[in-house]
Amino acid sequence: MSLLPKPHGGELVQAFDPFFDASQIQKELEIDAIALSDLELIAVGLFSPLKGFLGKADYESVVANMRLADNTVWPIPVTLPVRYESAESLQAGEQVKLVFNQEVYGVITVSEWFEPDLDKEALHVYKTKELAHPGVKRLYERGPVYVAGPIKLVKKPEKGIFRDVWLEPSETRALFGEKGWRTVVGFQTRNPIHRAHEYIQQAALETVDGLFVNPLIGETKSDDIPADVRLKSYRVLLENYYPADRVQLGVYPAAMRYAGPREAIFHAIARKNFGCTHFIVGRDHAGVGNYYGTYDAQHIFHEFTEEELGIKPLFFEHSFYCNKCQGMASDKTCPHDKEDRMILSGTKVREMLLSGTLPPPTFSRKEVIEVLIEGMKELKTV
Ligand code: ADX
Repeated sequence: MSLLPKPHGGELVQAFDPFFDASQIQKELEIDAIALSDLELIAVGLFSPLKGFLGKADYESVVANMRLADNTVWPIPVTLPVRYESAESLQAGEQVKLVFNQEVYGVITVSEWFEPDLDKEALHVYKTKELAHPGVKRLYERGPVYVAGPIKLVKKPEKGIFRDVWLEPSETRALFGEKGWRTVVGFQTRNPIHRAHEYIQQAALETVDGLFVNPLIGETKSDDIPADVRLKSYRVLLENYYPADRVQLGVYPAAMRYAGPREAIFHAIARKNFGCTHFIVGRDHAGVGNYYGTYDAQHIFHEFTEEELGIKPLFFEHSFYCNKCQGMASDKTCPHDKEDRMILSGTKVREMLLSGTLPPPTFSRKEVIEVLIEGMKELKTV
């Protein structure tokens, strides 16, 4: 019997309708890349139980309490920001086309539009109003008015090089079933996979049937390593070091919010919708700069019951290679000093990659580094 969890809220939302005729609809709203991604992810059920962009009551409840108005756990507002002039003429009940780069991708049935309190959203969701925080900066840039209502996706965006690893929740659920995995741990990352990531994945996999390596490929901040470069590094790592019958690669096509603790809950719920029973939360999950404490994204899980989350978090301490232990270890298992530990910051690694310097094999696999250096070189020449 499969132990795979039910989607969040009970049903997998399915709102893709390629046959829907939008040609009779006059009004349209221009949406940005993040809204396009949210539109598609709502439609394929990754954000179940959301059926559309949040209305005022749900939005305010999510911001204040991390719950939808009906009390379902939901930590991050998924909203459709537009300019005031675009929202002004919208009437409740009317259908409006959602357009990106002159292509119609969706239709929203407008339930309302409203002016959010962005300061409150920033302080509650991101714990700061500082524009140096990339999620906060984007929040203020994106727009003063939110349009709400259920959506339909009428056209799926092109997947390009991600085609074979862009799996919808209905597909991952079927796949996990076919593989006979009764328990599956999901792993989120916005980075190339280094040895510490690999270590916590292996430790998690020791206790479950399958590992779903699920890197985020939506919008990230400009100094994160681009998703297409990372994709090659994931493929080469899996080919060389991971047992094929126990590990599945699939992308998480959402935008990165950098909301630390709240985003960890959001990430876990999305992985439940993919069919995962467990979810890895390590150090400073979804964090940026020094905005969150190292383990805040773990502590937040204690604010909810296991039943209402429906996915089990697996917590890991800060991990590294230790020269004295002669292996991977963590704060929990290693008694040695800082000097014995191989710890590099993300910024340092990016600098090394850009200058063609190889980080040591105790930090990252050679095959991964080679692919990344090559990828970064290509980027510099574009
Ligand atoms: S994130 O923004 O996607 O969370 P990152 O790609 O760095 O960032 O991390 C992916 C996952 O690995 C997160 O759960 C994070 O907490 C965990 N992690 C990253 N580095 C370490 C480490 N050295 N030790 C333990 N956990 C880590």
